[in-house]
Amino acid sequence: MSQATNQSWGGRFSEPTDAFVERFTASVNFDQRLARQDIQGSIAHATMLARVGVLTDDERDAIITGLSEIKGEIERGEFDWSVPLEDVHMNIEARLTEKIGITGKKLHTGRSRNDQVATDIRLFMRDEIDVIEAELVRLREGMIELADREAETIMPGFTHLQTAQPVTFGHHLLAWQEMLARDHERLLDCRKRVNVMPLGAAALAGTTYPIDRHVTAELLGFERPAENSLDAVSDRDFAIEFTSFASILLMHLSRMSEELVLWTSAQFDFIDLPDRFCTGSSIMPQKKNPDVPELVRGKTGRIYGHLMSLLTLMKSQPLAYNKDNQEDKEPLFDAVDTVRDCLKAFADMVPAIEPKKASMLEAARRGFSTATDLADYLVRKGVAFRDAHEIVGQSVAYGLKTEKDLSEMTLDELKQFSDTIEQDVFEVLTLEGSVAARNHIGGTAPDQVRAAAQRARDSLASMQGAGQ
Ligand code: ARG
Repeated sequence: MSQATNQSWGGRFSEPTDAFVERFTASVNFDQRLARQDIQGSIAHATMLARVGVLTDDERDAIITGLSEIKGEIERGEFDWSVPLEDVHMNIEARLTEKIGITGKKLHTGRSRNDQVATDIRLFMRDEIDVIEAELVRLREGMIELADREAETIMPGFTHLQTAQPVTFGHHLLAWQEMLARDHERLLDCRKRVNVMPLGAAALAGTTYPIDRHVTAELLGFERPAENSLDAVSDRDFAIEFTSFASILLMHLSRMSEELVLWTSAQFDFIDLPDRFCTGSSIMPQKKNPDVPELVRGKTGRIYGHLMSLLTLMKSQPLAYNKDNQEDKEPLFDAVDTVRDCLKAFADMVPAIEPKKASMLEAARRGFSTATDLADYLVRKGVAFRDAHEIVGQSVAYGLKTEKDLSEMTLDELKQFSDTIEQDVFEVLTLEGSVAARNHIGGTAPDQVRAAAQRARDSLASMQGAGQ
């Protein structure tokens, strides 16, 4: 340590750091979260240094024992974090030197905090991605099973949030599931680029020691060492990719949340959410509020914010490492926590959704949801589609006036609008007939929903953990 500054880098300095600057530039209050990965990286680094003869085996063993003890101190909450020591890396290194003496100072041979921190974050992200993937898989599984159970449950399908055509609830759930399947692919794809090792890039240009980066990469489970040292210390694309994955995922969860909120309202009354996912009002005794989906919907905003932070953080940065990069951690940590919690909330809640089948069916019956089926029926009988459209439009107008759905009209009533209509029309005017007729891949027919659920299960099984 320097006489003048008391800092590990203080040799060339003639006065101590300004007290405010010391606090302003420190990151230890948040980057201590990387302690586990920092120790993991240091153990691998020391192992590699001994293997290439830069450290003796005794030195390596002393370092590894010391680091393992420090890990215990941190886990037990006994570690004394110091702001003057700036960040997690220097805190741990200083403690190591305190414990094992001069050998502790040899750990930093052939590396820099620049490649160290980049390695730590990648190890951290890889761990977190695996936890997040597990929650995403649990959510997808629950959604597929619910969809399969509800393959025949009829509800109105909407466009413009107006009743359009009847669909099955299972089909609607599998639409959500498709969104999540793409998010899952994006997450695994992001993991591939996270899993590349910066260590060995040192400050920016590499190091003069005879290091073996393949050894360190293998010890840490990285796919390969990063190709270019300048890029290795400065690249934060993976953080941006993760937050874009997270933004799209939360956008999807916000859409599902919005529907859940609407559906639990008395006006829709399509589903019930168990009480454990809801809360009450302190003033209105009758209230049961869908807080969980509301909150997930709300958390989408902060994730978009983190994506913007990271994109802007990296904008115009010259090569290689810049202190700006210290700002990558808080958005990333919060994104990871928020995504994990939102997925957990959904994975717990979705299988517990209780569809109110009678109410969904009733809603599908209102709003003339089989009008297109009547038009298609007329076309099959030789009427031109535009004429059929007009005929059905008149029938709907009559239904509005008489408060009758198309399926509730008598044959004579329907015949007022077209002579082509016969008794067999009632097969297509029922909701069950309408959904069953959409019997092709991607359609809403119950048989198709069951087949789609099976394909979704198979595809999920083939993806699960594919990145690891
Ligand atoms: N705390 C720093 C960060 O989070 C570690 C790397 C600092 N390197 C340096 N030369 N100041 O990015």
